[in-house]
Amino acid sequence: MQKNYIGIDIGGTFVKGGVLTENGTLSAFDSIPTHPQTLASDVADFCIRLQRSANVQASAVGIGIPGMIDSDRGTVVFAGNLGYRNYPIAEKVSALLGLPVFITNDANAAALGESRYGAGKDYSDSILVTLGTGVGGGIILGGKLFAGRHAQGAEIGHTVIRMGGEQCTCGRRGCFEAYASATALIRDTRRVGAETPDSLLHKLAPESIDGKTAFDLAERDAAAQRVVENYVENLACGLANLANIFRPDVILLGGGVANQGESLLQPLQRIFDRELFGRGLGSPVPILAASLGNRAGTLGAAAYALDCSQA
Ligand code: BGC
Repeated sequence: MQKNYIGIDIGGTFVKGGVLTENGTLSAFDSIPTHPQTLASDVADFCIRLQRSANVQASAVGIGIPGMIDSDRGTVVFAGNLGYRNYPIAEKVSALLGLPVFITNDANAAALGESRYGAGKDYSDSILVTLGTGVGGGIILGGKLFAGRHAQGAEIGHTVIRMGGEQCTCGRRGCFEAYASATALIRDTRRVGAETPDSLLHKLAPESIDGKTAFDLAERDAAAQRVVENYVENLACGLANLANIFRPDVILLGGGVANQGESLLQPLQRIFDRELFGRGLGSPVPILAASLGNRAGTLGAAAYALDCSQA
């Protein structure tokens, strides 16, 4: 009989979810707001609703969540944005639902989703880098997720690209995330706007600036252009470091910033190729946009539950 798996993708603002059938179709995709105080019961209720609208009974639940988790114990060890320390989410949701619950990191889940159902499908070794509030990483080697001990590795965002540089929320300075996240891009757009009185950026209210502003204005405003160039240089640096370690078949970019398409990917690939070991020698590493959008994490979390159930 065909089995079904629920995928839950927990973010700072929304929890997304859906039901995956063994043949790879996602149904009943939906979202609810994130309330950290009632997360476990909200997720359990959401799972019941998802099963009802997909008209199926699920065999297990997979949850992707940002921060450091312990996949074996099913706990969130530390999640800065959600304010959790040692939160036994799997046990709580499982007790409420009466189903096995497996957890992994949000970017690991998204990487698994892209590798199995999206832009990484044709590659054996792919790395997904998500550019959002933070910078997340998911590494697929030989078609399998490499997540480190207890799924606590692949924290690409917290590798340093500038010693003593910008403060990161993790406590370190100069992290890749402190330069390549959407949060960092917004900070730099506001900063350059404030420092450049004759720029178009300067005329904008700081609250109206988001991760798209610098890209939108780059052709008309030298200050915005500078922000974009600087952002792309830093992103290329972090990605080249990653590629020098893993030399994957492909790097996929996810998250809001990746929606910029060619205006980001073209200059990025040029600088990345210059920074990559071998400079044009050796196997090329294309950088592509991820293709599953906001469904990658849900699909991947469900696939994770499927894999764990079959292990
Ligand atoms: C966290 C990662 C997470 C990423 C994206 C980073 O700050 O350390 O665990 O995957 O943000 O949410």
